[in-house]
Amino acid sequence: MTTEEYTVRIEPHGRTIRVREGQPVLEAALAAGLNLPHSCKSGHCGSCRARLRAGEIRYPSVRPPGITAAEVQAGNILLCQARPLSDLVLEARLIARVADVEIKTLPCRIARLTPLAPDVMQVFLRLPAVETLRFHPGQYLDVLLEGGRRRSFSIASPPHDSELIELHVRRVPGGGFTERLFGAVESGALLQIEGPIGQFTYREGDTPLLMIAGGTGFAPLKSMLRHILERNVERDIHLYWGARQPHDIYEEALVLDWVHRYPRLRFSAVLSESTSAGAGHRRLGWVHETVLADHPDLETFEVYAAGPPAMIEAIRATFPDRGLRSERLYFDSFDYAPDSARSK
Ligand SMILES: Cc1cc2nc3c(=O)[nH]c(=O)nc-3n(C[C@H](O)[C@H](O)[C@H](O)COP(=O)(O)OP(=O)(O)OC[C@H]3O[C@@H](n4cnc5c(N)ncnc54)[C@H](O)[C@@H]3O)c2cc1C
Ligand code: FES
Repeated sequence: MTTEEYTVRIEPHGRTIRVREGQPVLEAALAAGLNLPHSCKSGHCGSCRARLRAGEIRYPSVRPPGITAAEVQAGNILLCQARPLSDLVLEARLIARVADVEIKTLPCRIARLTPLAPDVMQVFLRLPAVETLRFHPGQYLDVLLEGGRRRSFSIASPPHDSELIELHVRRVPGGGFTERLFGAVESGALLQIEGPIGQFTYREGDTPLLMIAGGTGFAPLKSMLRHILERNVERDIHLYWGARQPHDIYEEALVLDWVHRYPRLRFSAVLSESTSAGAGHRRLGWVHETVLADHPDLETFEVYAAGPPAMIEAIRATFPDRGLRSERLYFDSFDYAPDSARSK
């Protein structure tokens, strides 16, 4: 049985890609090296919205939560969920800033696995000697699994230190991939990766920064912070790292060392399930509420946030009301979707 393929033209650039029947348009675009805007890839965040100028699409089930009925009425679709039912013409933005890096599919070996917390593994990947992976701080890669399945992880190392690619992987109970890293898979194992992907990237400038991590959302911010600090860029930064318990702030000592060495960096660890804060930089509560308590007026800031969808949603819902300009809020939502929805 052959699978039907459709032609999808992306305007205003006029790039044409082939999309298999049942394949999300975004997946095919990324595989073709087109870095279209997106974040969660699960129909929640709305980042991949595009205008459907011609043709027909379907969603796996009902209208995804990231698009309103009015937006659908106006001809918008979500590319991470839309599957073509005919040839399509779309209007979508291509991200010029990340268009200069090539998305590659590469084999790599696990060079080292180091537990950072009971449920977080630091993974170092080694590329083949002849290969390099150029990326922007904040981007992520996909680990390619059997059956066309893929899993996304942010790159925690900065571009200037690219000998080994660092990831921080949180164990998902019952998870098809992450569980293996805590048991079956050992150093030396071979993985297939695709990357770099995404437009959650650091922008040069001198506006004060608020960086907000939830759990392993620290990974892309670590890449950005090392990129800034190790090149001695002068910029005011306040890093907030939200987690449940103290041990979830798994690189606290490293960040405290940075704070000691770089006077323009401030740090608050915000614990949601701890009864006592302990050290002075530790606070109790929800990370987004702590940021708002410290900075009731956000007009002069840029905000970078990465982590669980609930945290990103809370930031997107509340920060603009405190004066944050929408074009100064950059986020990566660590969403996930059942495999059935990813590949159907
Ligand atoms: C752009 C992006 C960047 C990401 N970066 C990171 C990162 O740097 N570090 C990191 O640890 N994670 C990151 N994630 C999340 C990560 O991709 C998932 O946790 C991972 O795919 C889970 O794979 P798995 O095969 O172990 O679980 P699966 O087999 O896919 O899932 C098993 C079950 O757990 C549920 N599930 C899956 N993921 C999660 C989750 N995160 N939380 C709660 N339940 C879940 C599934 O719905 C399913 O029921 C990122 C996600 C995105 C979209
Ligand atoms: S809704 Fe498509 S990437 Fe988030």
